[in-house]
Amino acid sequence: MSIWTYANRFSSTPREHQLTLGEGATPLVRSRSIGPQLGIENLFFKLEMVNPTGSYKDRFAASAISDMLAQGKTHCVATSSGNTGAALAGYCASAGIRCQIVIVEGAPTGKLSQMLAYGAQLCRVRGFGTDPETSVQVFETLSELGQRPEAALQVSAFRYSPRGMSGVQTLGYELVEQAEMPVDHVFCPAGGGGLTVAVARGCRELASEQGISPAKVHCVQPEGNDTISSPLRNGDLQGRDVDCTTKVSGLQVANVIDGNEVIAECRPLGGTGYVVTDQEVYTMQRRLAREEGVFCEPAGAVALAGAAKSIALGEVQKAEMTVCLVTGSGFKDGASVQKMVADDPCPLIGVGEIADCFSA
Ligand SMILES: Cc1ncc(COP(=O)(O)O)c(C=O)c1O
Repeated sequence: MSIWTYANRFSSTPREHQLTLGEGATPLVRSRSIGPQLGIENLFFKLEMVNPTGSYKDRFAASAISDMLAQGKTHCVATSSGNTGAALAGYCASAGIRCQIVIVEGAPTGKLSQMLAYGAQLCRVRGFGTDPETSVQVFETLSELGQRPEAALQVSAFRYSPRGMSGVQTLGYELVEQAEMPVDHVFCPAGGGGLTVAVARGCRELASEQGISPAKVHCVQPEGNDTISSPLRNGDLQGRDVDCTTKVSGLQVANVIDGNEVIAECRPLGGTGYVVTDQEVYTMQRRLAREEGVFCEPAGAVALAGAAKSIALGEVQKAEMTVCLVTGSGFKDGASVQKMVADDPCPLIGVGEIADCFSA
């Protein structure tokens, strides 16, 4: 079954307006090293960084921009921490749609350059991503701009762009279809929470169609952006705004956006929340690269950091099928990679010195 057949279950977009750059159908690979070391037999990574612009957000952009084409819209306005913007900029370039994006203050240069390369017009706003009030003002301003007849506001969240988010739901479908056995746990990194909601809905719907138990979908957040994870774990009904301090790009979302829906979707199926430190995330980013050959940005390692915590707490059993979403590519955040390899030399040497260099 093709990915577009999945998306069409949710989308009323006529086929002639459906835009694709080849997103979706990403690999689900078994952990060869970290899973066994953590003491579990069936740890898998869903490699979303192999999508065309390097993150799972391409699923969003494909649905959102197809919908704009179908409606005859010619102007996309958006907010982004980087990956949504890169995905929208790429799909807008393909569709011939003008793209203007307001970016969080701390977005990595790799993501900014990628958006500019696709021809998007950008600005960064001081305090956006860290200060909840600034973020509210940005959304208010862009909501107005997005109401013009030729325009549409695209934010990768159910609250603002449910059509686009239906594309992300295909990730949940794929997981259920690809797995060799019923999936017990899915660990999702969360900023605003839209990804977690989409995956939980997708897993639940396809599991119900197949008559199998749905996966427990867990929400993992850096402690500096704990808007959803602790409320979900502690039995609260709602997320909470925070002053965001995490440095993990993509997860700097100070306000509750889809957080209440994360709680409503995940809790009834046994999903819970995990909070991890930025340092734990960087350690897992390094381990994914060195021990699994999986090159991701820090946000892409957050799910694994949460899974490790869950296993240590005894909340995942040895044989349970466990999936960590690896959501974005290492090429997105050069500074995090520079930090990772800061102590690893690459000397410039003469041709006669190669053997000596490698004998060390
Ligand atoms: C790489 C990556 N992973 C995870 C997320 C979290 O998605 P959400 O804000 O929907 O929770 C983002 C959001 O930008 C992201 O860029």
